[in-house]
Amino acid sequence: MKTLLCGGAGYIGSHMLKWLVERGHSVTVLDNLSTGHREAVQWGEFVQADLLDPASLESAFAGRSFDAVIHFCARSLVGESVAQPYDYYANNVAGTLNLLEAMKRHGVSKLVFSSTAAVFGHPVQDFIDEEHPKAPINPYGASKLMVERILADAAQAHGLRSMALRYFNAAGASPESDIGESHQPETHLIPNALRAALGTGPGLKVFGSDYPTPDGTCVRDYVHVDDLAQAHEQALAYMDTHEGAHAFNLGNGQGFSVREVIDAASRVAGRPVPYELAPRRAGDPPVLVASSQRARAELGWSPRYTSLDDIIETAYRWHRNPRY
Ligand code: UFG
Repeated sequence: MKTLLCGGAGYIGSHMLKWLVERGHSVTVLDNLSTGHREAVQWGEFVQADLLDPASLESAFAGRSFDAVIHFCARSLVGESVAQPYDYYANNVAGTLNLLEAMKRHGVSKLVFSSTAAVFGHPVQDFIDEEHPKAPINPYGASKLMVERILADAAQAHGLRSMALRYFNAAGASPESDIGESHQPETHLIPNALRAALGTGPGLKVFGSDYPTPDGTCVRDYVHVDDLAQAHEQALAYMDTHEGAHAFNLGNGQGFSVREVIDAASRVAGRPVPYELAPRRAGDPPVLVASSQRARAELGWSPRYTSLDDIIETAYRWHRNPRY
């Protein structure tokens, strides 16, 4: 199978790339390297192109044929999206429209799209399933929900088959430590906790300790990046037999508080995580935990990493000696 992997130089995209190539897929990576790393593209073919530049986008399609596109290109920081909404709507919505038009021109009719738990906004139930109301509370989540709507319209108008996969908190790294999570700046909890423990980053700030949760800190559902990759491969297969636009939630179905993550990171690193309590961060819902029953039942998804320590262990091995 020949796949165009947009955003394959990024954190989740590069793990997807490795996963597919190791399973015999032929992959072309498209990335503008605005936040991704050329060093992360260790497999397949690389084309530097930008979804907002139709000429460079065309160069990725020209002379190649693809069975499907997997689309990870996006700006993805909640706080930044509140400050820079135009950037988020341009990159995430207009960029995706350009990609969809290019796919239509070149006769590619299957798309796996990176969506997010941020499409739900404040949860109204304990386990968030696909039917949960969608009411994003920031431009990032809104931009992803807009694309989900566009995909439903594209199915009607053009017969596009699509799978929107809504990730909860992607975490961990390839067990071989050849690729891993490297954001600049780093805003995510697990890398920040591990870097604090290793002394390669500042002490951790715990954003909020007065939430209505058992220990007062926010609860999240951490899912290993290779388990996300597994779901994408299954999503590609699902579209062989299913028309239309579909959406699936991807999480482990188990919530861990910031304090529990700190404890796990200390256990894995074998040393304490230096931290201080800090005010709440804008836009953080207290609890976000997925129901992934539908992905398990319909895609046959079966996450391999169910223990938080095992997920953090793979991240720790990467952060001890990051290659980029
Ligand atoms: N946190 C800290 N200190 C830090 C970093 C994070 O206390 O240095 C806390 C946050 O306040 C939050 C939790 O740890 O309560 C997890 O934060 P992350 O930044 O690791 O992840 P988020 O839950 O904010 O974001 C993730 C994805 C987003 C997506 C969102 C869906 O990174 O792209 O889940 O809600 F939108």
